Amino acid sequence: MHSLITCALPSHASRCANAFNAGRLTCYLVLFVWVASPDVTSGQPSLSSPNVLILIADDLGIGDVGCFGNTTIRTPAIDRLCREGVALTHHLAAAALCTPSRAALMTARYPQRYGMVGAASGGPPVLVHVASRAGLPSSEPTIGKAFAAAGYRTHFTGKWHLGSGCGFLGRSCQGPLAHGFNSTFYLPNTLFERANVEGSFWVWPEEDFHYHALVGTSAAVLAVAVLLKRLKFNVAAAVVVTSLLVAAPAAWFLLTHYRFHTPRWYQVSEWMDFNLNFVVMRQTSVLHQRAPLESLSMDMVRATVDFMRAEAASGRSFLAVHAFSHPHTPLVCAPHNRGRSRHGRYGDAVEELDEGVGLLLAALDDMALYNNTIVYFTSDHGGHLEALGADGQRTGGYNGLFKGGKFQGGMEGGIRVPGVLRYPGVVRDGSKLSSPTSLLDVLPTLLELSGLPSVRELLPDAAQPLDGLSLSSLLTGAGGATEDPTRGRLLLHHSGMFVDAIRYNTGEHVYKLHLRRPVYSSAGSYQCGWGETTACCTWRGASHSADISQHPILFDLRRDAYEDRPIANTSREYMAVVQHMKAQLEGWRQQVPYPPSQFNSVMDVILLPWLQPFTFL
Ligand SMILES: *[C@@H]1O[C@H](CO)[C@@H](O)[C@H](O)[C@H]1NC(C)=O
Ligand SMILES: *[C@@H]1O[C@H](CO)[C@@H](O)[C@H](O)[C@H]1NC(C)=O
Ligand SMILES: *[C@@H]1O[C@H](CO)[C@@H](O)[C@H](O)[C@H]1NC(C)=O
Ligand SMILES: *[C@@H]1O[C@H](CO)[C@@H](O)[C@H](O)[C@H]1NC(C)=O
Repeated sequence: MHSLITCALPSHASRCANAFNAGRLTCYLVLFVWVASPDVTSGQPSLSSPNVLILIADDLGIGDVGCFGNTTIRTPAIDRLCREGVALTHHLAAAALCTPSRAALMTARYPQRYGMVGAASGGPPVLVHVASRAGLPSSEPTIGKAFAAAGYRTHFTGKWHLGSGCGFLGRSCQGPLAHGFNSTFYLPNTLFERANVEGSFWVWPEEDFHYHALVGTSAAVLAVAVLLKRLKFNVAAAVVVTSLLVAAPAAWFLLTHYRFHTPRWYQVSEWMDFNLNFVVMRQTSVLHQRAPLESLSMDMVRATVDFMRAEAASGRSFLAVHAFSHPHTPLVCAPHNRGRSRHGRYGDAVEELDEGVGLLLAALDDMALYNNTIVYFTSDHGGHLEALGADGQRTGGYNGLFKGGKFQGGMEGGIRVPGVLRYPGVVRDGSKLSSPTSLLDVLPTLLELSGLPSVRELLPDAAQPLDGLSLSSLLTGAGGATEDPTRGRLLLHHSGMFVDAIRYNTGEHVYKLHLRRPVYSSAGSYQCGWGETTACCTWRGASHSADISQHPILFDLRRDAYEDRPIANTSREYMAVVQHMKAQLEGWRQQVPYPPSQFNSVMDVILLPWLQPFTFL
């Protein structure tokens, strides 16, 4: 059985049961057109401001990168960034899943603040359809809006996965355009195995009792019609037959191509995914109905390079976000990159990603923008440990010695990501930064490094409290070692709505307290079995994770980076630190209410056909 997951969607199906509230289905009949409205003030362009290039890998593990310790995968371009910039060795995603992690990176705010996370009670953990309504609220500040407000030209290439914002008949899909980006070449959703599986439209599974029930019901209705006809109720008979002709095919379609009758009510068939969920958009229209997998990496590089060249020629400062689709499944590469690596299709995809990074850096060199461009590289979260292809190859990444992986919000392997920042002459080359930093910090950091005003000043209308902070002084060495802005900060590590772990940097120690732990398939293991879509569904709560908040486990990552030796719960240190961290968390909970998950709202996450963008429309 494959499919559906993606950056997550577990078809670990059986593992993630939840009840479908059929009552809400009635809402399905309500037609609703959602148009996200951009909400941006414009600012003054400044000629001297540096350009910014943000590179985001998809599912890349920290252990997959040469300059973070891998010796068998070739990543010369990322390694070059490490040599020429600063490696962030304690860099953390704000979620172990794509949609919430990317939302946090874009907004510098925890996605729990605006419902962009899965819920324990149902729904997917990430967005699953292009034609659905859920998405990043237009009231959020974003990287795109902030730089646009500072007068930059802004561009987004690649995987967005934060909502397409498509209107009726798939018109005026805004996607990144609603969040401050001036131009786009993007995938509204994510790629996953089904991008490479055609599926069939005509399906009649003999063994599925729903289909037997459909035949039985149709036969009974037909019998009623025959009876009516015999009794000379001709009009009534005609009405019954006509209704049957409409209702039976409709029921077959819903059974076959939707999943309303299963716990994973938000999913669709392979055929639907293949044909509808892998569109490539340019601005508001569909460029490819299905992403051209072999050429996609190069097409994306071309889109970003074209944008940078045009802006460089005009002399304006630019922000380009390039969100790779590699090395997430389906791991399809261009012919010249196939079978090249020592790690199968996964390794090929990492090396093709690195080829893309290299071409983008070469383009900057070529345009003489090396010195005047900040380049930042990261991954949205850790590698997927369970992922195993149908061919028996491992299709997920390696998180080094950090325990756990993708989907496991509090486990280090799910959130410790590679991070590199290059700004020649400003940030010391070849250096390392070991303070705990977060993808939440990217927006405020890039603004300050670029010499621009803060988010609050740039976006007074979207002035929401930020959870990220500027690392500028740390990176440039301006404040001196005593002024580490991350000191004293509490970082939260969520699974859906739950707080699974918290981290606290005292300067001398970096404490990490685990409050909830995944339930693994066996003792000593840090994964939940094997399979393309198998995962630890910790966001579902009790059945998939153990609440240990009464006896939480504490580590000091400065002494014990891989969390092998918990601090004795009888020690003075344990008691003092745990009390302090729990009190801080309590304060947070009182201050910051989490609204309901958008992904638990049936009408917001199911595929609404009338919102689907098509090539021919
Ligand atoms: C390098 O990455 C591959 C692919 O994820 C992994 O199998 C291998 O163990 C890694 N090697 C090292 C030395 O980290
Ligand atoms: C770029 O987008 C921003 C935000 O949508 C907008 O304010 C600005 O006018 C756009 N700039 C150009 C040159 O299109
Ligand atoms: C970058 O700036 C440094 C210092 O001003 C200079 O030596 C170097 O040649 C510049 N590099 C490029 C590629 O322009
Ligand atoms: C300390 O840990 C042990 C074993 O994990 C547990 O039984 C005990 O209740 C814990 N004590 C406290 C104070 O948390």
